[in-house]
Amino acid sequence: MPPVLIFLAFLLLLGAGTDGLGEIIGGHEVKPHSRPYMAHVKFVKFNGNRSSCGGFLVRDYFVLTAAHCNGSSMTVTLGVHNIKAKEETQQIIPVEKAIPHPAFNSAAHTSDIMILKLKSKAKRTKAVRPIKLPRNNARLKPGEVCSVAGWGKTSINATERSAILLEAQLIIQDDQKCKKSFHRYSKTTQICAGDPKKIQAPYKGDSGGPLVCNNKAYGVLAYGKNRTISSGVFTKVVYFLPWISRNMKLL
Ligand SMILES: *[C@@H]1O[C@H](CO)[C@@H](O)[C@H](O)[C@H]1NC(C)=O
Ligand SMILES: *[C@@H]1O[C@H](CO)[C@@H](O)[C@H](O)[C@H]1NC(C)=O
Ligand SMILES: *[C@@H]1O[C@H](CO)[C@@H](O)[C@H](O)[C@H]1NC(C)=O
Repeated sequence: MPPVLIFLAFLLLLGAGTDGLGEIIGGHEVKPHSRPYMAHVKFVKFNGNRSSCGGFLVRDYFVLTAAHCNGSSMTVTLGVHNIKAKEETQQIIPVEKAIPHPAFNSAAHTSDIMILKLKSKAKRTKAVRPIKLPRNNARLKPGEVCSVAGWGKTSINATERSAILLEAQLIIQDDQKCKKSFHRYSKTTQICAGDPKKIQAPYKGDSGGPLVCNNKAYGVLAYGKNRTISSGVFTKVVYFLPWISRNMKLL
């Protein structure tokens, strides 16, 4: 079946199960706690503004997110569905140490990945569980269907971010085509996913969230086109595995 048809089939399947809940820009509300690895990362930026990103739990003490989500007074909330509600499932854990990748370059969006060591261990529950990382030889092919989730903006013009966790399906794009949209795209260190023909895409505020394929976290959302994007660029987890395991063991 051509990728587009698979994608449409997916949309139909998803559409059948959403009960009209928050059907937004092709994305839709996540079944509460069906992505127990999702982390809501809060921080204070250099200019003193508060901001937040997505992230994902990979070990009891470690969350991965994007390096551009670095800041001070960082905290991670696990087990969240609605960030504005006080949910019993939530675990708010301060960050003991943030380790942005040393080669991170915010202008070029390179090596946009960061490890967060938590001050206390995440307690595993139905709503909180780490996600697996791919093996070091794992590869994705153009046309494969993956997904992204986040509490980002729900539309191009939205001023508010979504309080509830949203998810969208994304298709792995051809590296050559990606290079045309994103001039600095590197197929060695990045993955490009989205669908230029559809508006389903992550939005600003979804940064740091995982690109999930076959129940494993293959990417960290780094940036999108035009800040609104019909496709997004993800930091390639497989490329950074040696750095990730080295830093998680050292601490
Ligand atoms: C963030 O900081 C800038 C500069 O300090 C300020 O102009 C802007 O209004 C702030 N944005 C928000 C959303 O608070
Ligand atoms: C990360 O943020 C902290 C706190 O604001 C800052 O001290 C540190 O220099 C930042 N690291 C990088 C690589 O930007
Ligand atoms: C960004 O979006 C606007 C409106 O859709 C479009 O006119 C502009 O060309 C886009 N810019 C880039 C760099 O794609």
